[in-house]
Amino acid sequence: KPPLRIGIAGLGTVGAGVVKLLRENADLIHARAGRELVVTAVSARDRTRDRGVDLSNVAWCDTPEELATHPDVDVVAELIGGAEGPARLTVTRALENRRPVVTANKALIAIHGAELACTAQAAGVPLMFEAAVAGGIPAIKTVREGLAADRILKIGGILNGTCNYILTVMHETGRDFAEILADAQKLGYAEADPSTDVDGIDTAHKLAILAGLAFGRPVVFASVYIEGIRRIGALDLQFARKMGYRIKLLGIARQHENGIEARVHPCLVPQDAPIAQVNGVFNAVVVEGAFVGRLMLEGRGAGEGPTATAVCADLIDIARGSAMPVWGCAADSLMQAVALPAKSF
Ligand code: HSE
Repeated sequence: KPPLRIGIAGLGTVGAGVVKLLRENADLIHARAGRELVVTAVSARDRTRDRGVDLSNVAWCDTPEELATHPDVDVVAELIGGAEGPARLTVTRALENRRPVVTANKALIAIHGAELACTAQAAGVPLMFEAAVAGGIPAIKTVREGLAADRILKIGGILNGTCNYILTVMHETGRDFAEILADAQKLGYAEADPSTDVDGIDTAHKLAILAGLAFGRPVVFASVYIEGIRRIGALDLQFARKMGYRIKLLGIARQHENGIEARVHPCLVPQDAPIAQVNGVFNAVVVEGAFVGRLMLEGRGAGEGPTATAVCADLIDIARGSAMPVWGCAADSLMQAVALPAKSF
C-alpha cells in the first residue's frame, strides 16, 4: 500500500508530539497499519520556533485551509484548537474535499460535532476525535467498540488534567491556586486560555462528547450545567479532608426516562473511593452499562505524549481502512440535557 500522507494543522504541544511519535515508532506503526504514515505538510503561525522536531522535509502551508486541500495530503490532523475560526474552517474544508480528519479539538466537536458528522457522512470520509476526550485514555474507542453491545446508563468522571492537577497539588501542599496553574501551563496541560479549564468548560466539552456517544445522539452543549473550581479554596480542601473526602471536578451524565442529565461541578468523593485516588494530571473515565456494570479507565488526560498517542491511533485506523463514523448524521435530533436534582456519583 502507498504511504498515508498526513497534513498537520497546528504545531503546539500536541502537533509536535504527533510528529515525534510517528517518527520514533515508525517501524511498529508501519507494521500495525500495514503501510507507512508520513507527515508531508504542516501549518503553524510561527515557522521559526524550535519544536524539537526536524521539519525541513515537509511542505509548509501558509494557512491551515491551504493544508486541508494540499495535493500531497491524504488525511488532515487538526490540532489548532478552538470551536470557531481556523480550526472549524480547516476541518470543514478537508471534509468537503473528501479528506478524512483526525482532531483533538473537544470544543469543536462538542459544539459543531453534529453538523461536521453530516459533512463527513456526505463526503463519505471519517471524522475521528479520540484525542478530544481524556488525552491518552481510549475513551471513545472503549465506548464505541468495547461497549458496542451494552446500554450505557451513566458516563463521566475526571475529564480535565489541569483541574485535577491543581486540586491535587492544593490538597497535598496547600500551595496557591495561581502558582499551580502556572505550573500546569508550563507542563503543556492547560488550554491556550486556561479559564476554559478552571471554569469547567473543557470538562463539559468532553462530557457532552461522551454523553452523545454513549446515549446515541449529540447533546446540545449549551444545556450542560457547568461550574468550575475557581471558588475552591485551601479551607474547603482542609474541611473535606477532615470529613474523609477529597474534592474532584467531575463531569456526570446519566440517561433518564425524561431525558439526559449532564453536569460539571466540584464534588466531594469519599477518600477511599477509586476515583479519589486519581491524582495529578490523570483523568478517570467511568462508565456504567446495564450488562457490563461499572468500569473505570485511568490515565494521563493531557500533555504531549498521551494526546499524541490518541491522535496516532485514529491515524492508524484511517491507514488500515478501519475507521468508523463515530456519529452518523444526526444534526436534526440533538439531545437537550434536562436539569435534575444532583445525586452522588
Ligand atoms: N487542558 C486539557 C486538560 C487538555 O487539562 O485536560 C487535554 O484535553
